[in-house]
Amino acid sequence: MTDIELKTQSGDSVIHCGEGAFSAYAHGHASRGVFIVTDANVFSLYSDLIRKTFGEKAPIKILPAGETSKSTRYLLEIIQAMLEADMKRGCTVIAIGGGVVGDIAGLAASLYMRGVNLVQIPTTLLSQVDSSVGGKTAVDFKNVKNLIGTFYQPVEVIADPLFLETLPPREIRCGLGEIIKYGALNGEIYSKLKNAEDLTNPHFLADVITDCIRHKAEVVARDEHDLNGIRKTLNLGHTTGHALELYYGRKSHGEFVLIGMYYELYIAHSYGVCKGNYYENLISLITRVLKKIPVYEDMEKALTNAVHDKKNPDGKISVIVPGIEGKSAEILLDFNEYVSLITECGNVLKEAYGKS
Ligand code: GLY
Repeated sequence: MTDIELKTQSGDSVIHCGEGAFSAYAHGHASRGVFIVTDANVFSLYSDLIRKTFGEKAPIKILPAGETSKSTRYLLEIIQAMLEADMKRGCTVIAIGGGVVGDIAGLAASLYMRGVNLVQIPTTLLSQVDSSVGGKTAVDFKNVKNLIGTFYQPVEVIADPLFLETLPPREIRCGLGEIIKYGALNGEIYSKLKNAEDLTNPHFLADVITDCIRHKAEVVARDEHDLNGIRKTLNLGHTTGHALELYYGRKSHGEFVLIGMYYELYIAHSYGVCKGNYYENLISLITRVLKKIPVYEDMEKALTNAVHDKKNPDGKISVIVPGIEGKSAEILLDFNEYVSLITECGNVLKEAYGKS
């Protein structure tokens, strides 16, 4: 088990990672006023554990599973349930679930009585390596992802691989999308991934989760509010991934991150920013997880979503790409050039698939 401390201007977090973290740290909150937020999937698997840990009577809000719960409707339902349960300012919101639960429960905790304690207990690989750490909270609004949100640091994150045992293979694949992103940002993680025989091996994952969390905590400590370009590096693969996710929406976030990284690596390679074995190895890591990279019709229309990305400066499309091992670079492109490079990459893929 490893503890990682994240110190930020707005507050400090301790992230307990590794096997045994849940049983060692979750109990500590049970005696105080807790309000649990989870979803129906997680509750159906872990209701006994949750009840045993936090008490039979601990108030709980169980959201329907899925992204559609990340809405103002459910945000207000959580707040109302907290009020009905007579939660006071000293209470602690415990978010047990994946990214949706973590984001909405985090936002509710930051708003209720101007802010109460928050503990994140991420149960998916993706939320363990990324979304539960760093204090981003949000709900979607008017079809815009994460439009209403805050930065609000959890006092504790408990990332225990225990919860990964019940994840379907697709959820593991999604988490690997973010893990490979960290590999493209961090030389040590890259080496571990490159040398791993089985990327889905539970012991390997338990180890690499801690590395990813450590990397993220270092980034967030230097740029909590995403203002000086450091936190923006965590967006690697996301410009194209998000644009396609918004338009096609049939795959999950982690899969779109893998797809986005693949297309953006093509851009990096065309610019001579990422090359040689390093480029080939990153491509092969992506295709080890996602065997076939989709080529979409209607690409130009889908990519217009990238124009509205909040990270774009001066009307250019910002693409964060791997440069040399352990270093990322930002490429700024006119929309037309961006579309043309992504289309070119799609054509290369189509040709390759035609031959196979
Ligand atoms: N998921 C990217 C960030 O937290 O900044």
